[in-house]
Amino acid sequence: MIKAVKGTKDIFYPEIVDWHLVEVVVLEFLKAFNYGEIRTPIFEETRLFARSIGEETDIVGKEMYTFTDKGGTSLTLKPEMTASVMRAVLEHSLHKKNMLNKFYYISPMFRQERPQAGRLRQFHQFGAEAIGSHNPALDFEMILIPYIIFLHLGFNDFNIKINSLGSPDDRRKYLLVLRNYLEPHYEDLSEESKKRFKTNILRIFDSKNPNDIEIMKNAPKLLDYISKEDREHFETVLKYLDHSELEYEIDHTLVRGLDYYTHTTFEIVSESLGAQNALCGGGRYNLLSKQLGGPDLPAIGFAAGIERILLAMKNKGLLKSSDKVVDVYIVVADNNFRTEAMNIANLLRLHKIPTEFDYLNRSVKAQMREANKFSALEVIIVDSEITNGYVQVKDMSTGKQEKVFVDLLPERYRNMGLTYTNLDDVEFDDDEFEDDF
Ligand code: HAM
Repeated sequence: MIKAVKGTKDIFYPEIVDWHLVEVVVLEFLKAFNYGEIRTPIFEETRLFARSIGEETDIVGKEMYTFTDKGGTSLTLKPEMTASVMRAVLEHSLHKKNMLNKFYYISPMFRQERPQAGRLRQFHQFGAEAIGSHNPALDFEMILIPYIIFLHLGFNDFNIKINSLGSPDDRRKYLLVLRNYLEPHYEDLSEESKKRFKTNILRIFDSKNPNDIEIMKNAPKLLDYISKEDREHFETVLKYLDHSELEYEIDHTLVRGLDYYTHTTFEIVSESLGAQNALCGGGRYNLLSKQLGGPDLPAIGFAAGIERILLAMKNKGLLKSSDKVVDVYIVVADNNFRTEAMNIANLLRLHKIPTEFDYLNRSVKAQMREANKFSALEVIIVDSEITNGYVQVKDMSTGKQEKVFVDLLPERYRNMGLTYTNLDDVEFDDDEFEDDF
C-alpha cells in the first residue's frame, strides 16, 4: 500500500469541520482589518528564500524541499509566505499603486523538519503582511489580529512574547558585545551553539540545551543596544499593548529563526502545546524589499500554524466537531417514486438547504436510521401521495408528522431559518424548476 509521505496528512470530514471553523474566523477578522487575500505559487526560485530567510538559517540550510526542474532552475516549495508576498508586491509594482499594501493568506507550507506533535512537513499557515509603513500601529495590529482570532476560537491561556532586534547597524555593534561575552564560555557551549557561534551567533538564544540557556541568561541584552529612535518605536508598541490591556512579556531571547527581521519581533505561545508551543510568530522586516532589489519599504507581518491551533484547541476541549451533516433527509417509502424523491432533494439543495436521500435502495427502516445518523431535523417521506403533490414531513425531535404540499417545502425551510440565502436572491427560476418537476 502506498501511504502519504511522512510528515504530511490527509484532512477530511469530520476533522475538516474544525478547519472550516478556524478559516471562517480568520477570514472574518482579516476582512475587518481590511486585508485583501493573496495567493502565490506553491514553489518559487530557491534564491528568493536563500536571499530573504538567510543562507545560515535552519530553514534554508536544512529544511527546504528543493529540486531542479527540467530547465535547470533550482526551485523550492515555499517554507513560508513573507518572501513570496514581498516578491509579488515588487514584481507587480503594487507599492507604486498603494503606499500601503495589506495582504493575508491561508496556505500550505513545506519544511523538512523532524515530524512530531504540532510539527509537520506540509503544514498550513494563515498570516498577514503590511508592506509600506513603519508605523507602530501596524506592529500592534499584527499582534492584535492573531490575539483576537485566538480569543474568538476560545483560547485564554496564551502568552505574548515580544522583543526588538533594532536595526542591523545596532545589531552589528551588539553582536560584537555578545561575541566578547560568549568567548570565555565557548568550550562550555553545546556543539550546535558552537556552530552558531561562528555562523549565526544570535541564534544561540534559541538553544534548548539547559547549559546554553544558563549561559545566555547573563548575556548582554540586545534591547540595551538599539538606537533611541528604535527604542521609542518599541515603547510605542508596548504602550498600545498596555492601553488595550493585552498582557505581554518582553523576551530578550526572542530572536526568531529567519534573518530578515528588524525591530519588533513577537510570538504567541500556548501552554496547552508541548515543545512546539508557538501558535504564531512575526515581526518587522524593514530591509527585505531592498535586499530583493526593491525600494525602501518598511513592512511587518505574522503567520500562525493551523495544525498547532487545532492541536491546542483539541487539548483544551474546544473542538466540538458536530456530526450534523444535513437538515433534511428524504425517505423513499415507495420505490416507484424514487425520481420524485431525488427531484425534491435537488429542489431543496438549489435553495441551499443541506439535504440527503437514499442512493442505496435501502428499506424505510434503514433510511430512517441513516437520517438519525445525519441528525436530520426533518425527514420527508415520499410515497404514492406525491402524485397529488404531497409528502409526509416528520419532525425528528418530536416525532410529529404532517402532510405538506411539495411546493411549500422551500418556504417551510426558509421560515425555519435553514436556508443560507434569502430566497428572493436565488438566481434560478424556481417556478420553472418546479414546473419541470
Ligand atoms: P515561523 O515562526 O517560521 O514564521 O512560522 C510561523 C508559525 O507557523 C509558527 O509559529 C507555527 O505555528 C507554524 N509552523 C512553523 N513550522 C511548522 C511546522 N513544521 N509544522 C507545523 N506548524 C509550523 C514565519 O513563517 C514567518 N513568515 C512569519 C512572518 C510573517 N513574519 C513576518 N511576516
